Amino acid sequence: MYNIEKMTNDLKNNVSSFRYNHSLMVAEEAKKLAKHYKLDKEKAYVTGLIHDIAKDFSYEEIDKWIKEYNLSKDLYLKIYKDIIHADIGSIVVKKWYNLDNEICNAILYHTIGNINMTKFDKIIFLADKIARKNSNEFIEELKILTYKNLDKALIFYFNEQKEKLKERNLELHKNSLELLKLLEKNNQ
Ligand SMILES: [Fe+2]
Ligand SMILES: [Fe+2]
Repeated sequence: MYNIEKMTNDLKNNVSSFRYNHSLMVAEEAKKLAKHYKLDKEKAYVTGLIHDIAKDFSYEEIDKWIKEYNLSKDLYLKIYKDIIHADIGSIVVKKWYNLDNEICNAILYHTIGNINMTKFDKIIFLADKIARKNSNEFIEELKILTYKNLDKALIFYFNEQKEKLKERNLELHKNSLELLKLLEKNNQ
């Protein structure tokens, strides 16, 4: 159903080898998580594989997508410039492979989250954070939590991010904060 070979090739041609290896690891982890949470394994694999397709786009390319799709330049130019690859990625996969909204949304939400996240979005988000070659204590704990309770894993992740950003005098993106508040309220 999915042309995984073509996607893998496109990925290879669009991202660094570091990002390519990361994408393969995220795809495998997403598949494992989908199995664990009884979701569509192949769809999870594909989404994990392609989630960072726009991450290594050149500045010219990014500008082109921003103009063509009227994306907010704020995300790109200010401290959250890492976020825009999720917005562009979700458009790219629709355009190139006509992937469905479930996949596009999971890609769109994989950097900062969103209060409307589904279980599928959450496993993609967390697979991206836990599928690491060089793990540490934080990632190990996040991984354990991810397989136990997705919401608690997200709360743990965003609180850690909040602290990390605080040290740099930055704040969580407002979408992440909104999500964190909602999850904390629902998981008291
Ligand atoms: Fe990403
Ligand atoms: Fe990623």
